[in-house]
Amino acid sequence: MQKLQLTLAIVKPHAVKNPIALSYIRQAVKSKFVVIKTKRILLDEDTAAKFYREHVGKFFYNRLVTFMASGCIDLHILGHMRAIQMWRKMLGPTSVYKAQFQDPYCLRGLFGISDTRNVAHGSDSPQSAEKEIKFFFPDFSMYQWYNDDEPCYR
Ligand code: PPS
Repeated sequence: MQKLQLTLAIVKPHAVKNPIALSYIRQAVKSKFVVIKTKRILLDEDTAAKFYREHVGKFFYNRLVTFMASGCIDLHILGHMRAIQMWRKMLGPTSVYKAQFQDPYCLRGLFGISDTRNVAHGSDSPQSAEKEIKFFFPDFSMYQWYNDDEPCYR
């Protein structure tokens, strides 16, 4: 049997606060992925800064960190044969302006407000998915998941 690929999805604060966006995103996620784990958290700025440390020095870094700590975020570990590519395709381009032109029905095209408030985050490679999942779910074992066939949470 082919293994599921895992990715981390983070629904950003403005989308968590918007009931229409949130229920649309939840339906979209449930229809395409195995939802393996989910939790809602409020990040503090230090943790947000750590998570986005690869962007230190970019002009949007402080804005991104402050925004990500401004309200609750939803974290989902998603499984699919091509989870990383599938979730990023559903999101659309980082730039909301581009998203609205290229694919107005992608999540960022529908609910994005700016390049920071662009609805959700998605891991960009298997390495970053593993790192990001470990960051937010330190007790989750990718190894165990792949080897023990844990039950799925829906
Ligand atoms: S980049 O340019 O490669 O760093 O872009 P990307 O990896 O797609 O984006 C990383 C996160 O930075 C945010 N971002 C921005 N915020 C404000 N202004 C601009 N121009 C901008 N470009 C990127 C973007 O929301 C990404 O957040 P996450 O949570 O990773 O999706």
